[in-house]
Amino acid sequence: MENFAGGTAEPETEPDAARVEVLALPLPVAELHLHIEGTLQPELIFALAERNGIKLPYAGLDELRERYEFTDLQSFLDLYYANMAVLQTEQDFADMTRAYLERAAVAGVRHAEIMMDPQAHLSRGISLETCVNGVASVLATSHEDFGISTLLIAAFLRDLPEESALEVLDGLLAMDAPIAAVGLDSAEVGNPPSKFERLYDRAREAGLRLTAHAGEEGPASYIVEALDILGVERIDHGIRCMEDPDLVERLVDARIPLTVCPLSNVRLRAVDTLADHPLPAMLAAGLNVSVNSDDPAYFGGYVDDNFAQLGAVFELSDFDKARLAANSIHSSFASEERKAELLDELNGREVPHP
Ligand code: ADE
Ligand code: ZN
Repeated sequence: MENFAGGTAEPETEPDAARVEVLALPLPVAELHLHIEGTLQPELIFALAERNGIKLPYAGLDELRERYEFTDLQSFLDLYYANMAVLQTEQDFADMTRAYLERAAVAGVRHAEIMMDPQAHLSRGISLETCVNGVASVLATSHEDFGISTLLIAAFLRDLPEESALEVLDGLLAMDAPIAAVGLDSAEVGNPPSKFERLYDRAREAGLRLTAHAGEEGPASYIVEALDILGVERIDHGIRCMEDPDLVERLVDARIPLTVCPLSNVRLRAVDTLADHPLPAMLAAGLNVSVNSDDPAYFGGYVDDNFAQLGAVFELSDFDKARLAANSIHSSFASEERKAELLDELNGREVPHP
């Protein structure tokens, strides 16, 4: 193996001390699984509520934070959607996006593929123009302003009918919204990928890239459906693939990216504790996994926090961490030029070659 840009070979040696110091800096990574609405920190929720004259159902920050105790995906989604009430104007969406990028830059993020949930805003009477233009206005200069290249993913709520998603996709295309891809999120169980076959056909025809949440709470068969019926290029989460050895073999052979979110999985009880997380087993199986933050304001950490906590529990080698970083860059929808730049930056860290 020539370097980490390959991202596939097994490590054979341990890093030397001088190089470990270089590795103390966050590695340059691509964040591929991030819901912009999930970056709303409690302080910003209160600030936006005040600016917009919205009365929140919490007396203060502490009372809000007490609600960040989740039993499953739905218990989180209830709070996540409720807190979006503070997002009213383009400025609100822009401020939220800027706050994420500022923090992500510190975490080592050099490229971010950002999901937003237009249906969750339309249903509150907020127009597509307001939410899309607010986020996009900040993304347009994210590289110059934060050193982070970005692209926008329109995510569709799988607990709503496919008709709604089709209407919104048509609206986004009609306004020439700067979206690069579509995704599928919200309550997974009972809402299989097959429900959205026409949506993904239309998105593909429009030249959009395709990803979908699958195998977070839902079964491994949802991952198979997302691949076979929706034709996705990437799977968001995908951890339950580990229950199906044939599927693991298929994912390894096809190098299908899985955008794994360890702290999210713990907080939403998809796994009992971080020590029970399948990430090391996924790496060992040769799966193309990356580390992402999902909804960092709700799950206790950004990408760097995910890496730090994984490192503390599993003692991942520096080689493993660099491989996760390389996987994230390879698995992005960035241009080949941008990927090469980021891989050069990663390899410039002189992580030991095995
Ligand atoms: N929307 C925001 N975060 C999500 C998650 N982890 N799973 C499904 N939908 C989501
Ligand atoms: Zn997600």
